[in-house]
Amino acid sequence: MKSIAERVNSMKEIPPLPDSVNAVIKAIRDPKVSARDITGMIANDVAISSKILKVVNSAYYGFKGNISSITHAIVILGFNVLKSLVMSFSVYGLIEGLDSKGPFSLRDFWYHSVGVACASKVLSGMLGFKNGEEFFTQGLLHDAGKLALYRLEPELFLHIVSRAKREDRSFFEVEREEVDIPHPDIAGMLFEAWQMPDNIVESAALHHDIDVIENKRHVAIVMLADALVRGMGIGSAGDDNVVVHGQQLIDFLLQDRDLEEVNVMIRQEIERAEAFMRLID
Ligand SMILES: [Fe+2]
Ligand SMILES: [Fe+2]
Repeated sequence: MKSIAERVNSMKEIPPLPDSVNAVIKAIRDPKVSARDITGMIANDVAISSKILKVVNSAYYGFKGNISSITHAIVILGFNVLKSLVMSFSVYGLIEGLDSKGPFSLRDFWYHSVGVACASKVLSGMLGFKNGEEFFTQGLLHDAGKLALYRLEPELFLHIVSRAKREDRSFFEVEREEVDIPHPDIAGMLFEAWQMPDNIVESAALHHDIDVIENKRHVAIVMLADALVRGMGIGSAGDDNVVVHGQQLIDFLLQDRDLEEVNVMIRQEIERAEAFMRLID
């Protein structure tokens, strides 16, 4: 029997990215590609463009109900927002066809992902980064490896979730006792094969590795976002309220900022992102 690592590596059991997403990912690496080219790639994909329009017309972007086409969206929101949205929806192939089962709620997982996306965006802005949209996507996709594992080995995945809850440990800790490749490495393999941008690959592949925070600030931000959102009890990623490395990350990134204030800002951002939360319904 093949190991999970081998099965991820072969990519055969993982749904491929939609052609439109694939084309956009490749195009992002090409400096000559224009907004018009990207628009063309997305506009032909009804599934992706309808999701994008649903989100861009929500309160989150502040243009409630006024954006009627992808061409219009790119003019108003800009190239970077649209690129980030397409990346964000790449996770959809992994979710599609999956259901909540036993101790695992797909909706709670999605809430966790959107929560970490919002928190990553807020923290990045606070720390002086200008590319908040990219941080949103990094946060949204950080735990995508869990979805891949759930697809490949649903029973084993549910067993890990049950054990984590019963033993009051983190998913990641139990996971390392049960599988040959934990979810960060699964996401790393997958995202690399899909040629996703490096920051997205790294924050998914390294978000449980506290040793990288000094050199990879973008990963540290996603890690802190993960810790804070868990602390707030928003959603669940297969384990409950287990905050790992929280204080170390707070000391490293937030220093003397008021944690209460940071939490309030994150909560406000999450409230505004209601349209993202509802994408799973
Ligand atoms: Fe994780
Ligand atoms: Fe997480």
